[in-house]
Amino acid sequence: MISNRMKRRQFFKRSTGFIGAASMLSAVSQIGCIPSTAPAMRAELSQNKIAFNTAIPELSKVGDGVKLENNGLEYPILLIRKSESDFVAVSTECMHLGCQVRMQRIILRCPCHGSAYDLEGKVLNGPTEEPLKRYNIRMKENIAEILVL
Ligand code: FES
Repeated sequence: MISNRMKRRQFFKRSTGFIGAASMLSAVSQIGCIPSTAPAMRAELSQNKIAFNTAIPELSKVGDGVKLENNGLEYPILLIRKSESDFVAVSTECMHLGCQVRMQRIILRCPCHGSAYDLEGKVLNGPTEEPLKRYNIRMKENIAEILVL
């Protein structure tokens, strides 16, 4: 009788441990799978500049962002609308160990170790200690000219 109770207790303890581990794995894998709220777009890179037309529905509201990709870029660039006429461009390279950050509404989050940045690339949460690389932008009407140096 006692031995059966012990077996049940051990079984329950092991099952609970397994369920806890499975839940944790599930949570970790979900963090890695959180979709970016910035759609990926192809951008033309010429003479260290990207000229991107911002008059698109994906950038129509303050806080909207797009991920600009080009084979000439080591990391894609996030272009984010700050106001009616102002944008910010930051690299997606996490300054901790180089994973790609993702835009998740009002923060930029790294799926690797959880670093978080605000939409201007400033550090909100470690382990990173450095802000994201920012690019200078010149606006010409609706065209954002991003200087990739
Ligand atoms: S590489 Fe981004 S938090 Fe570690």
